[in-house]
Amino acid sequence: MKLALVSAVALPALVSAHAPRDAHHARQQAAAAAASGSSSAAPASSAAGATTAPAATSLTSVSLTFTLASTNPSAVPLSQIVSGASSQPTVAATTTYATGASPSFIPNAPSLPNALALSPSNYPTLDKTPPTDSPEVQQWIKEVAASGVTIPNITATVAGGCPSNPAAVADTSRCWWTCGGCTDADDVVQCPDKMTWGLTYDDGPALYTGDLLQYLDTVDLKATFFVVGSRAISYPALLQQEYMAGHQIAVHTWSHPPMTTLTNEQIIAEFGWTKKIIKDVLGVTPTFWRPPYGDVDNRVRAIAKAMGLQTSIWTRISATATFDTGDFDIAGGLTTSTQVLNNWESIIGNATTIDHGFIVLEHDLFQQTVDMATGYILPDALAHNPPFKIEPIISCLNKPMRDAYIETNDNSSNPIGVSASASGNAAAATGSGSAAAGKNGAMSSVSVPSSLGAVAFAIISGAFALFL
Ligand SMILES: *[C@@H]1O[C@H](CO)[C@@H](O)[C@H](O)[C@H]1NC(C)=O
Ligand SMILES: *[C@@H]1O[C@H](CO)[C@@H](O)[C@H](O)[C@H]1NC(C)=O
Ligand SMILES: *[C@@H]1O[C@H](CO)[C@@H](O)[C@H](O)[C@H]1NC(C)=O
Repeated sequence: MKLALVSAVALPALVSAHAPRDAHHARQQAAAAAASGSSSAAPASSAAGATTAPAATSLTSVSLTFTLASTNPSAVPLSQIVSGASSQPTVAATTTYATGASPSFIPNAPSLPNALALSPSNYPTLDKTPPTDSPEVQQWIKEVAASGVTIPNITATVAGGCPSNPAAVADTSRCWWTCGGCTDADDVVQCPDKMTWGLTYDDGPALYTGDLLQYLDTVDLKATFFVVGSRAISYPALLQQEYMAGHQIAVHTWSHPPMTTLTNEQIIAEFGWTKKIIKDVLGVTPTFWRPPYGDVDNRVRAIAKAMGLQTSIWTRISATATFDTGDFDIAGGLTTSTQVLNNWESIIGNATTIDHGFIVLEHDLFQQTVDMATGYILPDALAHNPPFKIEPIISCLNKPMRDAYIETNDNSSNPIGVSASASGNAAAATGSGSAAAGKNGAMSSVSVPSSLGAVAFAIISGAFALFL
């Protein structure tokens, strides 16, 4: 998506890398509101208009540059997969699992809790970084301090991405993925085996996740779902259905912030509450997480590791070839269904030429993203010749599903938070360098001053107000 916008509006890379990121962030809030049923897609459209109107105009003339190998006979026509599309019927969770049921495919999995008895009042406000003074967060802060993992003493970034943080961009020891794509050797950014696709969907569960689950069942595919804690509270039955169907459940934070802008304590709160709600719904706690926007640096990585979470992003083989379909931006009017398919064609074109497997950014949050996946992207991928092997990230890393959860992981093939051996030579593969530099830099377990984090967060909130 970012790539499409860059070429469409011909802005200097730094500026355009900034604008879509903020727009994505603001739209995420609109999306969250929409997913909670409290608003329409209108705010997302106005966010689009406010930030990239010229791109939206030129994008309407984009035509398909290739022929799909296959489409779903019941696909929604591309011309109807647009911002503000009228709502389609949703597929509700098909099964209500009895409390005490457990998945047959994970040995010794704990039984399912009674998720319907969860009370939202026992959790933080949705779609906001949780307060850090609660007993729960204070306990998690102590656990991180006792984990033995050293948290680098680097400052939080300020809102606005690369252009607003020149010193942080210049400091390669941070290994900040957002500005330059730096990965740590521990990051999972690809699958080791060629022609293998680690299938992932972000930001749900949401209204149309049931449609996606139904399609995945039909074609017998399993995926990794990066779950937003605030959505899990709203759709616990869908989350149980994902898990019981054999998909991998992973953490995508509580409120979907750019994590490098938060204080250490806020990062701990984002992780801790998301781990907790998932455990309260499923009985298990994920061992993998994905940073929203891919926004991660060595400080955030260290806190994730201290909390038992393996950082996993998506494949980026160069500054101009990042495996992001851009599907998120259809709902906001920043891209078109045709452009997303052209992005997809570039992704699989590159995927067939690299000597390792790949991971792609897609979403189950919106009707439009689910329509693209079930109508076009998955049917095309399934018909591809030579064939792709399509599976959850944990499986593409050649690990058993039990390794995906703290309670069932025996630490033999997936020592928690340390899986460098399975992630391939990620830093070398992306050519981004400075992979482990931060590990040798100045370290301490002292927090970033909370006032700095508060200012950064206020700036972001101001940006929301502007866009919304
Ligand atoms: C952490 O870094 C800040 C400057 O960014 C410095 O003022 C502070 O003393 C450092 N803390 C430790 C414990 O090194
Ligand atoms: C790889 O991706 C780039 C950027 O999206 C694209 O221009 C190029 O055509 C792709 N390569 C193949 C072989 O599809
Ligand atoms: C795996 O490691 C985690 C974290 O160190 C620990 O809490 C857990 O008990 C270990 N599990 C087993 C089965 O040893």
